[in-house]
Amino acid sequence: MKYLIYILGFFVGSNGLVFGQAQKPVDQCVSCHNDLGTAEAELFKHDIHFAKGISCADCHGGDRRATEMEQAMDKKAGYIGVPKGDQISAVCASCHSDPEKMKRYHSSLPTNQFENLKASVHGKLDLSGNNRIVQCTTCHHAHGIVSVKNPASPVYPLNTPATCGKCHANPTYMRTYNPSLPVDQLEKYRTSIHGIRNKKGDPKTAECASCHGSHDIKSVHDAKSSVYALNIPATCAACHSNAAYMKPYGIPTDQFEKYSRSVHGVALLKKHDVSAPACNDCHGNHGAAPPGVESISKVCGTCHALNADLFSSSPHKKAFDERHLPECETCHSNHEILPPTEKMIGTSADAVCSRCHSEKENEKGYVAAQQMRSLIDSLINEEAKAQMLVSEAEQRGMEISDAKFKLRDAHQAMLQSRTAIHSFNEEKFAETVKPGLATIAVVKSEAKGAVEEYYFRRTGLGIATLIITILAVSLFLYIRRIEKNGQRRIKL
Ligand code: HEC
Ligand code: HEC
Ligand code: HEC
Ligand code: HEC
Ligand code: HEC
Ligand code: HEC
Ligand code: HEC
Ligand code: HEC
Ligand code: HEC
Ligand code: HEC
Ligand code: HEC
Repeated sequence: MKYLIYILGFFVGSNGLVFGQAQKPVDQCVSCHNDLGTAEAELFKHDIHFAKGISCADCHGGDRRATEMEQAMDKKAGYIGVPKGDQISAVCASCHSDPEKMKRYHSSLPTNQFENLKASVHGKLDLSGNNRIVQCTTCHHAHGIVSVKNPASPVYPLNTPATCGKCHANPTYMRTYNPSLPVDQLEKYRTSIHGIRNKKGDPKTAECASCHGSHDIKSVHDAKSSVYALNIPATCAACHSNAAYMKPYGIPTDQFEKYSRSVHGVALLKKHDVSAPACNDCHGNHGAAPPGVESISKVCGTCHALNADLFSSSPHKKAFDERHLPECETCHSNHEILPPTEKMIGTSADAVCSRCHSEKENEKGYVAAQQMRSLIDSLINEEAKAQMLVSEAEQRGMEISDAKFKLRDAHQAMLQSRTAIHSFNEEKFAETVKPGLATIAVVKSEAKGAVEEYYFRRTGLGIATLIITILAVSLFLYIRRIEKNGQRRIKL
């Protein structure tokens, strides 16, 4: 079959017109180079371009019908020799960026590769300053090109890591461009679940191009990059939320959905707060793997350092390690982390503590949970009362900026105690709560004082008004009396 195509190839016309048309002259370029047994000719036999009736001359120029080398490879016949630098991609683009031409080959492939490449990070000028960093042949080679879905393609998923790694894992080469750019992507990738499965021959896990793209690769700091923080969840979700695609692996496909609802997802995707973690902040970029049970608190702890420190010195540290329980995830989950509330703590059915603590089981923790909950409840209730008193005083126009300021301190104590919960020790917890309660007591008394003063002033004002009124009325009556007396005297 291979040879049949090969022989047919000799009858194929120059403009890529189809087989079976009126006899076409033999392609002398292919013919003579085959006789010479050159490497290019050998590779070209398996080339998708050859199968489409494309000749050496379609890329190198020249006269494919001439039997003599001099005439065939004559500049006057359009022979360009071996294309170099940017000339290479221009040759490929002469077809691949020309929809009309590609249609003539009955191709429905996209025709945007060159356009995307020029706008990509690889489209920048190389060190010579004359050519782009990469050409089409850097990733596809020049001869022996096959469909990208063919396992022999250098950009078939199993081969892409090596193709990109040629440069990106070469420190000498990369340093000349950008000394600060790491060169460990391939090495780390090989340690990830993606990389391990890829090495074993699974083309479905992520490889370089599934996360970075192919022709349109951008700097990771470019907001248009597929691995820019805001775009990462969607990049991972392309596979991980595709139930049909992931079916053979039997792992959940709800990470994106849950993540989107979580405090982190809302912060990143809705508020565009890039300090919130995307998938890669927890799973790594190239080492993308589930963080092992031991490392989970380290991952959360890189951002929530205080919680992690408290946890490490809490009684749960040892208890959880012994039971191989993940440190933070056990109470907060991993993808669907919701805003914590005091409902999580205590002994009611929906509190996390009651999953492990009861009157019968780990009873000391049960008692502690109860006490900690009542402490935080009193802090919440007292703060609410203080807030009400302050508002009331304000509405009455009293000057209480000092109490308001202290209320802010009290709120700070509330936030601190929510963190202090992670000591899982009622005494330590009480140490944080009590100063908060004390501050609130001061605020309450100041606000109460202000309200009382208001009423006192109001009463005072009432009495004063009454006295003034009485005085005015008496004065009026007195004047009338004098007037009446005067009139009587005149009459007399
Ligand atoms: C009759 C034989 C013959 C024909 C026909 C022929 N070539 Fe060649 N070609 C050669 C030989 C021999 C060489 C090696 C000689 C050399 O290196 O200069 C060569 C070299 C080349 C090279 C490498 C040049 C370099 O600078 O390294 C290219 C490219 C090439 N041929 C393309 C073509 C194309 C395109 C055609 C058809 C338009 C063609 N050849 C037709 C015999 C032929
Ligand atoms: C799809 C375009 C394309 C076709 C078709 C093609 N070549 Fe090339 N060829 C190139 C490019 C591009 C280079 C530049 C070198 C590189 O990037 O590897 C090249 C390089 C060469 C070289 C020089 C190799 C070297 O190491 O310097 C020879 C010889 C050659 N081609 C011969 C041929 C022959 C013979 C045919 C047909 C049997 C052919 N080419 C078909 C694109 C093509
Ligand atoms: C940095 C490596 C790289 C460079 C440079 C590159 N490609 Fe690709 N190309 C790929 C990868 C990877 C694929 C696989 C498909 C995918 O993942 O998009 C691909 C796919 C293709 C396809 C299949 C259709 C498609 O678009 O998916 C064509 C055609 C193609 N490339 C042509 C070109 C041309 C023409 C150039 C030069 C303008 C070029 N490529 C430059 C990596 C590259
Ligand atoms: C004369 C026109 C022409 C030139 C020049 C040309 N190609 Fe192609 N290329 C085609 C056609 C036609 C196909 C087959 C399209 C199809 O099967 O839909 C193809 C297929 C490909 C494919 C396989 C895409 C797939 O199906 O996965 C790659 C990769 C590719 N070309 C890369 C290149 C590169 C790299 C160059 C330059 C060195 C180049 N082409 C030059 C016309 C050309
Ligand atoms: C699972 C997705 C994924 C895969 C697979 C992947 N990358 Fe990355 N890559 C990323 C993410 C995410 C970043 C970092 C983004 C950031 O720093 O914000 C990154 C960053 C990079 C960078 C910038 C420098 C750096 O290390 O931060 C380069 C270069 C890079 N990757 C190349 C590669 C190469 C080469 C491969 C294949 C061996 C590859 N990547 C495989 C997701 C991936
Ligand atoms: C010819 C060598 C070469 C090949 C092959 C290559 N790259 Fe690059 N890549 C570079 C150079 C050089 C840079 C630019 C470094 C700079 O200027 O910062 C770069 C930049 C990048 C960046 C941007 C890093 C940043 O600054 O954030 C990513 C991502 C990347 N390449 C991924 C890939 C992937 C994926 C592949 C394979 C499909 C690949 N590269 C193939 C040489 C190469
Ligand atoms: C091209 C599809 C694809 C993309 C894109 C992709 N993955 Fe994967 N991922 C897979 C497949 C397939 C597996 C293998 C599942 C298995 O073996 O359990 C996997 C495995 C994983 C695992 C290990 C799961 C386990 O078995 O415990 C993690 C974690 C992971 N991916 C995270 C990510 C992250 C984070 C991203 C984005 C930065 C990402 N993946 C992008 C396909 C993909
Ligand atoms: C806040 C940290 C964090 C973020 C953000 C995160 N993950 Fe995870 N992920 C974890 C932890 C922890 C596990 C559980 C690991 C274990 O149990 O060994 C996990 C497990 C996984 C697994 C294994 C299967 C499973 O569900 O248990 C996959 C796949 C995965 N995550 C993908 C993703 C993707 C995709 C995203 C982004 C949409 C993401 N993760 C965001 C921490 C995170
Ligand atoms: C890259 C840094 C980062 C990592 C890693 C991280 N977080 Fe967060 N986390 C944040 C940021 C930023 C917020 C605040 C989001 C907002 O605006 O509400 C947050 C919010 C939270 C909240 C809600 C706090 C509140 O007061 O409502 C909890 C609970 C939480 N994270 C737990 C975790 C856990 C558990 C892990 C590990 C599985 C983790 N985080 C990993 C940055 C991180
Ligand atoms: C035993 C259960 C439990 C474990 C384990 C746990 N937490 Fe919490 N977490 C809670 C409770 C309960 C709250 C407070 C709820 C409230 O009162 O608002 C909370 C609140 C938080 C908050 C919001 C308050 C704040 O500090 O800003 C963050 C962030 C947080 N946890 C992170 C973590 C991290 C990181 C870890 C792992 C080191 C962890 N948690 C482990 C139960 C737990
Ligand atoms: C996943 C199970 C689990 C959850 C959830 C959990 N604990 Fe614990 N806790 C333990 C285990 C196991 C111990 C160790 C018991 C022992 O050694 O007797 C422990 C010990 C404690 C201790 C120390 C008791 C002592 O013996 O000194 C306190 C206090 C405590 N937990 C409080 C809490 C509080 C408060 C919560 C809810 C916010 C909580 N725990 C949630 C499993 C859990």
